[in-house]
Amino acid sequence: MSSNTSTDLHTDPSLYSGLDVYAVAGNPIAHSKSPVIHARFAEQAKQAMYYGRLQADLDGFARAAKTFFAAGGKGMNVTVPFKLDAQALADELTPRARLAGAVNTLWIEGGKIYGDNTDGAGLVRDLLAQGIVIHEARILLLGAGGAARGVMGPLLEQSPKCLVIANRSSAKAVELVKLFANQAAVQEVALESRALADLEDAAKTPYPFDLVINATAAGLSDESPLSASAVANIFTPSSFAYDMVYGKTTAFMQQALQRGARISDGLGMLVEQAADAFLLWRGAELGALIDPRAVLAKLRS
Ligand code: ATR
Repeated sequence: MSSNTSTDLHTDPSLYSGLDVYAVAGNPIAHSKSPVIHARFAEQAKQAMYYGRLQADLDGFARAAKTFFAAGGKGMNVTVPFKLDAQALADELTPRARLAGAVNTLWIEGGKIYGDNTDGAGLVRDLLAQGIVIHEARILLLGAGGAARGVMGPLLEQSPKCLVIANRSSAKAVELVKLFANQAAVQEVALESRALADLEDAAKTPYPFDLVINATAAGLSDESPLSASAVANIFTPSSFAYDMVYGKTTAFMQQALQRGARISDGLGMLVEQAADAFLLWRGAELGALIDPRAVLAKLRS
């Protein structure tokens, strides 16, 4: 085996003979927790594999991914900003990856590159594991970019009572509602769009929400998408506020706490989406051997 360390940013599968090699691709990627998460799953399921990091140039994802697979790489997770490039690269997409408009998991089989998206399933499993009831819940999803789109299908599958998409630019929220209108009708979910500014008006905010998910990029710049008056309309002490960002208590989470609501960051979603990727690559039967909640607890400790 090579002397690569955990900070190696350019995993080369040819250096790991005898091991199946995987990597997470992104830019930046040095601080990704995916290698440690997958190493724990491999340990739990006794799999001979190596999972490294791959930092692709911003305009070089396809080249880096093709090189990785040509050198024997078995599978790849994909994170910011390459999820759309990964979708374009895949020869075959699962239906949920097509609907999500993005790919976070790639693998090679019979010379073809397959793409899936496990983000939404990961979010739903993390919520359920935290005891959050999604069925019949009133959900507010903040944001209408790739992160929001990626989780809409799996959220709708749980048949919430309603799903309101609120975005700074309301046109993008309207687009998302159109895209998922059929699925919402089948699942009998009231799917609506709002501008973020509408949330300040109690008349335009249908009710306080059971579950508010922040899928905007606002937390990355220490901002919240919600104004103080919006906060007063949407949270009650029985609300649950979930931020897809992890590793800090974001401004959004602080607002929810001030209203007495419960909060969560997105670390559980990260672990759960990784678990799904691991099982896609290594076999669903290993589901009985891996313990994502134990991996999450260890990461938090
Ligand atoms: P991602 O793939 O992470 O969703 P994206 O497609 O660039 O990234 O989308 C970012 C989302 O965060 C968008 O919904 C964006 O709102 P706009 O569509 O109006 O741009 C939202 N966003 C980013 N910064 C924000 C901020 N400071 N306040 C509110 N929304 C913000």
